[in-house]
Amino acid sequence: MIGTKMRLRADALAARGGETMATHEPAVFVIFGGTGDLAKRKLFPALCHNAVGGQLHERTLILGLGRSPIAEAAYRADVRSALAKAGLADEAERLVGRVFYQAIGRGSDDDYRALAERLEKLCAAHEIPPNYAMYLSLPPHVMPATIEGLGGAGLNNTRGWTRVVLEKPFGKDLKSAQELNALVHRHFREDQIYRIDHYLGKETVQNLLVFRLANGLIESAWNRDRVHSVQIIVAEDLGVGSRAGYYDTSGALRDMVQNHISQLLTLVAMEVPSSFDAEAIRYEKVKVLRSMAPIDLNSVVRGQYTAGTASGHAVRGYLEEANVPAGSQTETFVAMKLFVDSWRWQGVPFYIRTGKRLPRKTTQIAVRFRSAPVSFFKKVGCRLESSDVLLITLQPDEGFSFHFDIKKPGDPFQIESIPLSFSYDERYHQIHDAYQTLLLDVLEGDQTLFVHATEVEASWKLFTGLLEAPPPVRPYAAGSWGPPEADGLAIPESGLWQHGC
Ligand code: BG6
Repeated sequence: MIGTKMRLRADALAARGGETMATHEPAVFVIFGGTGDLAKRKLFPALCHNAVGGQLHERTLILGLGRSPIAEAAYRADVRSALAKAGLADEAERLVGRVFYQAIGRGSDDDYRALAERLEKLCAAHEIPPNYAMYLSLPPHVMPATIEGLGGAGLNNTRGWTRVVLEKPFGKDLKSAQELNALVHRHFREDQIYRIDHYLGKETVQNLLVFRLANGLIESAWNRDRVHSVQIIVAEDLGVGSRAGYYDTSGALRDMVQNHISQLLTLVAMEVPSSFDAEAIRYEKVKVLRSMAPIDLNSVVRGQYTAGTASGHAVRGYLEEANVPAGSQTETFVAMKLFVDSWRWQGVPFYIRTGKRLPRKTTQIAVRFRSAPVSFFKKVGCRLESSDVLLITLQPDEGFSFHFDIKKPGDPFQIESIPLSFSYDERYHQIHDAYQTLLLDVLEGDQTLFVHATEVEASWKLFTGLLEAPPPVRPYAAGSWGPPEADGLAIPESGLWQHGC
């Protein structure tokens, strides 16, 4: 629970006279896919930052797993170079000495028994309790067998605690998500399951809750009476890169909308929870998903990028990317208009837009408030598009801004739109990576920022009709804001799409 976590971390700070100390019991952090890209780019750097910051218990160990045997020294060298790439060359030794490796082979019963034995030996040798956090950073097709393997070897029920972290995608539609939930529940209780969505670990996403719920003025305006529309944009300048094998079976809808964007939407739209803990917050989020109006397929635009220009360079189209099947109809862009059929949000459109190869990377939530009923200043013109918009920038340049109209000094009488803004970087200089927060939460047993079984199913359910009858894919040039058809979705009612300031 967030409340518990904040208290624990504050107590830990106090106990050390201001210096941070770990607030979890020592454990073994097991990484399935320990030689993979996510482990190297995100998990090891996050663990290392936590070790340096003193939040990772000094006796917590890391066991990387991969298919093939690798000498432990060679694996540690790999981890060292991954940390150096992440800018942590000087700090690497704070972590590498407690990194171990084990081959899991093809995942036979014997392989899992060997894993269980290795874990027991590691715990005994380092005098730590058998607490295991098992992070499954694996392709979807091996997930079920891995969960069965863990259950078969008794790794779901040890003398300490056992938690399993499941990376997205969690299923590819409602049916597969239900099947996966049923399978995981055969071996693990819900309180042992951490379905990760890294967006929930971003500081700015968590701050969305604080900003909304701690500021009376904002919360009292957070409803259909004051809000005209909400836009959520998650734009990326990169293309699919080397991930087409996965991406082509997924597309923007499954890759971004069903999970990350749904999470943002539920946090914006949820009712005030009865308390600030995991259960109450997850309950409210599920309620939002269940009260979404059925998606009108005419309010959805799918797109696919064609050749164009990105960051000043000519780039190829999606169909020319390596490993994309000829004629693929996979969308790299989705825009849609949604409605939340609730007392609070009746009639307020929520616009969503996400895509690859858009002009720049930006994740923003724009809450457009209703304008003043009478415009006294029409004659002097210029109410800017950004007026009355609360812009919450989740990345990059994390922060908030709200534009006010003011009178420009002097003659002639002119109105200007001025931002009242806050930048994380200017104030705090550095913010944690999402994985730092989420991995600590797993070790501390805090499920607030993880997705519940009912939530994942409710979100797949919302998109079922769309997945079954997707509208045609429209081309857009790389480096543009998506197909022109998507602009048509927003302009008549809410002015231009908010592309960020
Ligand atoms: C991942 C998607 O979950 O999120 C990627 O699979 C996407 O396709 C990434 O690029 C975006 O994450 P972030 O944190 O860079 O916005």
